[in-house]
Amino acid sequence: MKRKLKRFLIFILISFGVLYLSKNDILSIKDLLFDGNKISLNEKDNLVNGNNINTNNYANTNDYLLLVNKNHGLSKNYKPENLTIPNIKFTNLVNNEEKHVSEVIIKPLENLVNEAKNEGIILLGNSGYRSYNSQKNLFNNRVKSQGLENAESYVAKPGFSEHQTGLCIDITNENEFLIQGTKEGDWLENNCHRFGFIIRYPLGKEDITGIEYEPWHIRYVGEEAAKYIYENKITLEEYLEK
Ligand code: DAL
Ligand code: ZN
Repeated sequence: MKRKLKRFLIFILISFGVLYLSKNDILSIKDLLFDGNKISLNEKDNLVNGNNINTNNYANTNDYLLLVNKNHGLSKNYKPENLTIPNIKFTNLVNNEEKHVSEVIIKPLENLVNEAKNEGIILLGNSGYRSYNSQKNLFNNRVKSQGLENAESYVAKPGFSEHQTGLCIDITNENEFLIQGTKEGDWLENNCHRFGFIIRYPLGKEDITGIEYEPWHIRYVGEEAAKYIYENKITLEEYLEK
């Protein structure tokens, strides 16, 4: 009988232990997820860097040089006006929201994709505009599937992604695998500046951009800035500081 009681007590102790540990696990995963209340934008920073501007017409201003990165955010409600779907091919999985980009990049983007095609390179749109909430879901799903470190290296937190500006788009190839060394990646790297785009997260500049190399993410900055950035092998951050 005594032995039975001892076994019972051990069972109870182990059960509570397991319960306690799994509860802590759940809490720690939850802590990693972005809940939108933990990060508050630095208003002063935003004003200094012009990220609160109400952009109606990028074409007549320098607004397409808007800096969005880990230190320069956008408000939750920031949404570019005149979001439009470019006349290019998209991958099958892309949703309707992500087909949109800011109107100012429509022509340059279509010209880029058409010129690539003339040169035998087929490029597809993969992800353009993403709202704050879409970015939040993307970030949190990445944390769940790949962990926080991976998520933070490749996916911006909501409010800190330039996908929310509509000024960039992720491009891919027909295999939906545009990585370093593919002919599509090489073509983009060497030619996108001709159309006013830059590879926004270049190799070797991770400490400046805060994001791992992304050969697929092109960002419109206008032809003059794109040429300068390409020729001097710098980032948008460095260009804006010069
Ligand atoms: N992949 C880029 C950094 C973004 O999520 O905005
Ligand atoms: Zn991107």
